[in-house]
Amino acid sequence: MCLKWLWLVLLRICLSVAIGWDPAGYLLYCPCMGRFGNQADHFLGSLAFAKMLNRTLAVPPWIEYRHQQPPYSNLHVSYEEYFRLESLLEYHRVISLEEFMRTLAPVYWPSDKRVAYCFEAAALRSTDKKTCPMKDGNPFGPFWDHFDVDFSGSELFGGLSFSSYYKDQWLRRFPPSRHPVLALPGAPAQFPVLEEHRPLQKYIVWSEKMVQEGEAYISSLLVRPYIGIHLRIGSDWKNACNMLKDGLAGSHFMASPQCTGYSRHSAASLTMDICLPDLKEITRAVKLWVKQTEANSVYIATDSEPYTAEIKQLFGRKVKVLNLQPEVAQIDLYILSQSDHFIGNCVSSFTAFVKRERDVYKRPSSFFGMDHPPSLHTQDHLSYI
Ligand SMILES: *[C@@H]1O[C@H](CO)[C@@H](O)[C@H](O)[C@H]1NC(C)=O
Repeated sequence: MCLKWLWLVLLRICLSVAIGWDPAGYLLYCPCMGRFGNQADHFLGSLAFAKMLNRTLAVPPWIEYRHQQPPYSNLHVSYEEYFRLESLLEYHRVISLEEFMRTLAPVYWPSDKRVAYCFEAAALRSTDKKTCPMKDGNPFGPFWDHFDVDFSGSELFGGLSFSSYYKDQWLRRFPPSRHPVLALPGAPAQFPVLEEHRPLQKYIVWSEKMVQEGEAYISSLLVRPYIGIHLRIGSDWKNACNMLKDGLAGSHFMASPQCTGYSRHSAASLTMDICLPDLKEITRAVKLWVKQTEANSVYIATDSEPYTAEIKQLFGRKVKVLNLQPEVAQIDLYILSQSDHFIGNCVSSFTAFVKRERDVYKRPSSFFGMDHPPSLHTQDHLSYI
């Protein structure tokens, strides 16, 4: 018994030596806001923030909400399930949070040193007004419980933000010598992703498994050229877009800077056709791009009604129309990203993921309600990232 325990301790120490502790410190956070699209936006900002502070980023798993189907709770899906961790290393030092917890935490981040860091304003929500709400509610609690983490103390900060303007203040306030592990309740990033961080998408590279699966679907079910469309039209979305009608949203609403432009001064206006295209707008855009690209197939990814029959009817037998509804939404993302033309929903962060990836590889995209979106200035930024 005792020997087994000793063996485990030794093993852990050896492992962590092999992996190596980074004296520049670590950054941990919970991707606790929104579903995949939002988490991906936040991931890019967090990656940039970790690089700015020169800390190794502990890459968190994706949180998937499986409340309608087994296991009826949150799933924590490792980053590597969908993407290659190694590709991130071309930009900055990373380790998966799973690996960090398995190999480094037992030695360097023991349970009595697990300090949480948060804005003073966030701590105000706690009963003593001095504790970071790291595990309050869903998905916060289940996330850290997944890693068996409880926090032993809190360090509050104010007068700071995650923008590069505060770089020196962060470094002065939290030097890695005294604050080796910066654990945050949420992503140190903005939503939607800042324009200058969009090119970081190129480091998010599909895993071998996803490529194989995605390519198998494409080659067996679709005939190139094919266009991919993302229909975000479910009831929750209708409610969100109705805010536009009521004039509450303006031209910047969720992911919309990707098509209206990031500058608030020159942003194009966000119309209802862009936010919530109706069947008339959907068929108009699909017909246009099928003709333009001489497409042989249309791939539909949707959160509700795929309109497969209506779209089939437009083309007769000439064009194959497919809606897969894969269990893993990332399969949709993959197939959309590989299409010969993509029509997305500009307000959706799910679309935004596809759009950014296509921009990296210079594949053409448009949006419902906007056939010729302005090009963003991401190419200028590529040079200095
Ligand atoms: C950043 O961290 C790495 C790894 O600890 C270290 O080698 C490097 O010197 C650091 N760079 C700066 C500018 O502090």
